[in-house]
Amino acid sequence: MTEIFVKDNLLHLRNDHISYIIYILEGGIPAHLYFGKRIESINPAAVLRHYELPADGRWWPHNCALDHTPHEYPAHGLGDLREGALSVRQKDGTRSVDLRVTGWEVVDGKLGIPGLPATFGDNAKTLLLHLKDELIGLTATLSYTLFDDVAGVMRHTELHNASDADLYIERAYSLCLELPDSRYDLITLSGKWAREREMSRRPLVMGEQGVSSLRGATSLFTSNMLFLARPETTEDRGEAIGAALVYSGNFTASVHVDANRCSRVFLGLNGVDFSWKLAPGETFHTPEAVTVYSDAGLDGMSAQFHRICADHLVRGKYAKAPRPILLNNWEATYFGFNEEKLLKIARTAADVGVELFVLDDGWFGHRDDDTTSLGDWYVDTKKLPNGLKHLTDQVHAMGLKFGLWFEPEMVSPKSDLYEKHPDWAIHIDGRMPIQQRQQLTLDMSREDVQDYVYECVASHLREDGIDYVKWDMNRHFSNIGSALLPADQQKELPHRYMLGLYRVLEKLVNEFPDVLFESCSSGGGRFDMGMLHYMPQTWTSDNTDALCRCRIQYSTSLVFPPFAMGSHVSAVPNHQTGRITPIQTRGNVAMSGCFGYELDLNTLSAEDLEKVRAQVKRIKELRTTLLYGDFHRLVNPYEGQDTAWITVSKDKREAVFMFVRAMNQPATPPVLVKLRGLDENKIYTIRETGERYSGSEMMHLGLSVHPGWGDAASVSWTLEAE
Ligand code: DGJ
Repeated sequence: MTEIFVKDNLLHLRNDHISYIIYILEGGIPAHLYFGKRIESINPAAVLRHYELPADGRWWPHNCALDHTPHEYPAHGLGDLREGALSVRQKDGTRSVDLRVTGWEVVDGKLGIPGLPATFGDNAKTLLLHLKDELIGLTATLSYTLFDDVAGVMRHTELHNASDADLYIERAYSLCLELPDSRYDLITLSGKWAREREMSRRPLVMGEQGVSSLRGATSLFTSNMLFLARPETTEDRGEAIGAALVYSGNFTASVHVDANRCSRVFLGLNGVDFSWKLAPGETFHTPEAVTVYSDAGLDGMSAQFHRICADHLVRGKYAKAPRPILLNNWEATYFGFNEEKLLKIARTAADVGVELFVLDDGWFGHRDDDTTSLGDWYVDTKKLPNGLKHLTDQVHAMGLKFGLWFEPEMVSPKSDLYEKHPDWAIHIDGRMPIQQRQQLTLDMSREDVQDYVYECVASHLREDGIDYVKWDMNRHFSNIGSALLPADQQKELPHRYMLGLYRVLEKLVNEFPDVLFESCSSGGGRFDMGMLHYMPQTWTSDNTDALCRCRIQYSTSLVFPPFAMGSHVSAVPNHQTGRITPIQTRGNVAMSGCFGYELDLNTLSAEDLEKVRAQVKRIKELRTTLLYGDFHRLVNPYEGQDTAWITVSKDKREAVFMFVRAMNQPATPPVLVKLRGLDENKIYTIRETGERYSGSEMMHLGLSVHPGWGDAASVSWTLEAE
């Protein structure tokens, strides 16, 4: 149960798992005292002493006391000379802000954030802390929500202009978290195309460190999250804190360690390409930041994120439903298909038990390669002379659902749309438009563009019997300018773009509640909690090589549960690495996500096709556990040749264990893998081997595994409780 106590200027938010404590200093400065495992009470004087502040809380006018005060929402420049969370340009050109507490409210449940994705749930309490800068008439409401079932706090800030002059917000982070020491390793996820979310872990050092994006998307290169783990923290032991932004655009995630070795964590909108004009009477909302705490290692931290994703973020019909096993034609045909070829692929897919056929890029305009037609979302009658509906009808008649690819935020310079509306692309007059993949980005900050994009997708969903949409996005922002924004608001474009995109997505998911949406951005380039609010699954990576996928899925699982990860078996030699891996291993790795195929099954040998049939059958039996069970990482592929993980059903009666060895060596003994999440008191039978073990034996002694002969050998075992 969540409780919020208020006593003697102390605001203590807590549930069964964590405490979050704020202390209002004399003068109304909200200081941060504690975030971590639930505590019963706190001695504010002792915490303040740690920060070298007067123990009686009288901070003013001691010299620069603010410069080492742990703040809830600091602004640079008035005594605190460090980086701040807030900067607002005023009519005289100065930027300092002095927010003092004017009051607080406690409300039941969780409030939404207008225009932005956000967590939700009734089993929660929210503290709204009201502040005001009297001089400039700016008010801020800091919102803190604790769900009963999550060891974490959801935060965002609302800024309101109560003055009669324009204000310009130049920085407004979602999260500032002050920590009383810096004995942490910083873990971040960075990468590139086909190598998304590689984990890096290094000790915090004095000064500033972190990751950011100015690309107009979270991107392939960075993820909008960071993790702090004690140096001794492992997967199953030790303290860890994780913070993630419920947003999909530019961001900053940073940690600043000061001379006293205290740490200040920031997460929020990147301030470089951001500014927001707040006219008198207007309100601005920051995106939401989610912060979780674990004293049970990184695995415990991920469990909190997974619960937030499952119970407080993903919505709609597919939030908890079995996801259809799909076959996507991209790597089977690329742009070279016609109706007959597609139907042949679909027929075999239906025959082995696949449930959804997805037609990827190339079905519209004159798109025979990636140089044309984005924006012209009408069917290419050269390839599909009978139209889309005719194709979907035939696919439906095979018992398959039908899915369609779009890249709606984009326009090709070679397209009817660009000819008609060149000003709809993000551009700067007089400057050569920089293309990426021969395409430009539509200016989603414009309402006319949003409406066009919405209607392009919606009309096909209304008329063509589409059950699934793959929503792709394959380039980042350059020439950042909008034809409609005045000069003093051009820096609003990146954030307005996101608000426009979210507006379109919100309309689509509401109008088409039965359609399953999958987010994609050159693979997993927009794998974030923002997109997950609209689309319950994201294409994890264009890299479908089973060994590479072990690493990508392993690190993605730091925040995202299996049901969020699109995960497919593709052809060999693999199109990204040239590697040949057994079909079992490709299946064993892919089954820990939203399973599918990315190949023409007609090209498989009869023997492999039978294996595919068996894979599909097994996944259908196990998918509730695989998608919605508790996922635990067991052996880390970043540390050696082996990967292992397990998914355990909520009632602990069923589990699926997976082990892969990348490179075989002669005479290697079996390894003991300690499992997690099982019922210690239950006896489990491994269906594939017939062996029986107690849960406690497999968790404390371990399960002896040898994956067998050859490189990329693997096992996938089903554990059934007696
Ligand atoms: C990038 C995606 O990640 C691929 O899966 C595929 O849909 C291509 N775009 C199509 O252009």
